[in-house]
Amino acid sequence: MSGFVEKPEPVEVPGLQHLHTGKVRDLYRDRDGNLIMVASDRMSAYDWVLPTEIPDKGRVLTQLSLWWFDQLADLVPSHVRSTELPEGAPEDWAGRTMICTPLEMLPVECVARGYLTGSGLVEYEKDRTVCGLALPEGLVDGSELPSPIFTPATKADVGEHDENVSYEEVARQVGVETAAVLRQITLAVYSRARDIARDRGIILADTKFEFGYDGERLTLADEVLTPDSSRFWPADQWQPGRRQPSFDKQFVRDWLTSPESGWDRHGQQPPPPLPQEIVERTRAKYIEAYELLTGIPWS
Ligand SMILES: Nc1ncnc2c1ncn2[C@@H]1O[C@H](COP(=O)(O)OP(=O)(O)O)[C@@H](O)[C@H]1O
Ligand SMILES: [Mg+2]
Repeated sequence: MSGFVEKPEPVEVPGLQHLHTGKVRDLYRDRDGNLIMVASDRMSAYDWVLPTEIPDKGRVLTQLSLWWFDQLADLVPSHVRSTELPEGAPEDWAGRTMICTPLEMLPVECVARGYLTGSGLVEYEKDRTVCGLALPEGLVDGSELPSPIFTPATKADVGEHDENVSYEEVARQVGVETAAVLRQITLAVYSRARDIARDRGIILADTKFEFGYDGERLTLADEVLTPDSSRFWPADQWQPGRRQPSFDKQFVRDWLTSPESGWDRHGQQPPPPLPQEIVERTRAKYIEAYELLTGIPWS
């Protein structure tokens, strides 16, 4: 079982056509054909969109993405055109709305990993590979890889699992040339971001990008380098050989799988609402990640 615990109704704004309610973002089209991306405070975990929101999360994701798009502008163009509030939009869209170029999206989650954990670790423990790439012996949970690797995944629908695929599979889907460019840009952007984060005491263990075409122009889309799309670890607590503390949904995931929640993630029931304390601690983690990375106090 998976999906939305409660699917939200789209907000109606005159002049905007609602296109899609994603796990976290709502998409609209304006009269000029722009794509309007509104990041909500929704939280997803274990393939569910939870019934409890994290206040300010949508603004943090949006502001952090915008900051990163600026840091990366010389490497790859971004889909962001403006952050003006569309006419007639509710006030509470401010700070969490991006007016974007609508792209022909590529059906690949472009993941870069500099460290081994998560689904990469699971695959490594089976056969010493990740997405078909051979890795050296002796790596453990949290190990730094000899060099960053491109480990693409297929993009799943709401409630479904992304699946790691080989580079060859990506080449089959999008063509050899596009696959090569995706890999090259993904690794270049990852490396830039990793170095910036490292200077601020944060390890960027891995991250996911989405790209699309604006005509012929390959363009970086969606959100980038947020706690929802990346694993950020406090560098001073990094200790390979265990699961690392991280700046993301860790409190939520830990609570959902604890006896206290009473929830069985493999069962038939949707996840329960989060306790206030978990909401607060999660909100604080998102804000802390924003402040550490950007150096800008949250407001
Ligand atoms: N510039 C763009 N043009 C078209 N689609 C985009 C663009 N940027 C992001 N998207 C798509 O918008 C959606 C963002 O909403 P999200 O909540 O992340 O949804 P999902 O549940 O599909 O991950 C994603 O499906 C993403 O692929
Ligand atoms: Mg998404």
